[in-house]
Amino acid sequence: MIALDIENVTKSFGGVRALTGVTLSLNEGERLVLLGPNGAGKTTLFHSISGNILASSGRISLFGDDITQLPPDARARLGLARTFQITNLFAQLTVLENILLAVCGAQKLTFKFVRPLDRYDDIQKRARALLEEWNLVDAADRLVRNLSYGEQRQVEVVMALSGEPRILLLDEPTAGLSPAETLRVMEMVRKLPRDMTIVMIEHDMDVAFEIADRIAVMHQGRVIAEGDEAAIRGNQQVSDIYLGVE
Ligand SMILES: Nc1ncnc2c1ncn2[C@@H]1O[C@H](COP(=O)(O)OP(=O)(O)OP(=O)(O)O)[C@@H](O)[C@H]1O
Ligand SMILES: [Mg+2]
Repeated sequence: MIALDIENVTKSFGGVRALTGVTLSLNEGERLVLLGPNGAGKTTLFHSISGNILASSGRISLFGDDITQLPPDARARLGLARTFQITNLFAQLTVLENILLAVCGAQKLTFKFVRPLDRYDDIQKRARALLEEWNLVDAADRLVRNLSYGEQRQVEVVMALSGEPRILLLDEPTAGLSPAETLRVMEMVRKLPRDMTIVMIEHDMDVAFEIADRIAVMHQGRVIAEGDEAAIRGNQQVSDIYLGVE
């Protein structure tokens, strides 16, 4: 089944053309890494997929539903979750409180009609289960602002998982992390269910090649190369961009 189908998507901000004719398609369970230099349009593409912005033209479908004009919550209800390039946590709250809020939000989206008290129990259980599953029990009562940046990124990924998404978009989850922290986040991504479709933006080619089934390279708002590791490593235009020839 096709999880995500992006057809000829263009996005302009006033006079700035951020995306030009982007076409990409992912099968369910596929892991695609988006590479590309600063300003290539990677985050803009994520915003268009999640509904944080609307494409100027083109069409996006999620598991067969046309979502091009849908708001973010409707897309989340169809199974989409994402993290942001800039940390999106409540710094003054604890790890557990942040996860509780995420679980709460995810349950709202599923419109579960149960008694409020049962619902509170449910939310607590789910939040604690997530902390356990992702080895964050010891951090449960720590304030997010006292966590290392790497730990914060891990909490964000767990929050995105709170609604059991079918497709997950990760915007540079390893940016600014130490090599050890990068390994931990990569370990999390590897541990995700194999049927979860993943699109990850990454700057480090080695990390990208390790995680990805397939790579797409963006440059100046376009997808300029797509394929497996050999295809990308052998692509002259990609080498030129990364060596700064262009
Ligand atoms: N809200 C906006 N208004 C105007 N221009 C924007 C807006 N958002 C993005 N752009 C422009 O669109 C282009 C693509 O930006 P985008 O953030 O998608 O790049 P990126 O590939 O994610 O880069 P980075 O690797 O630095 O995160 C850039 O030229 C950027 O300045
Ligand atoms: Mg970006």
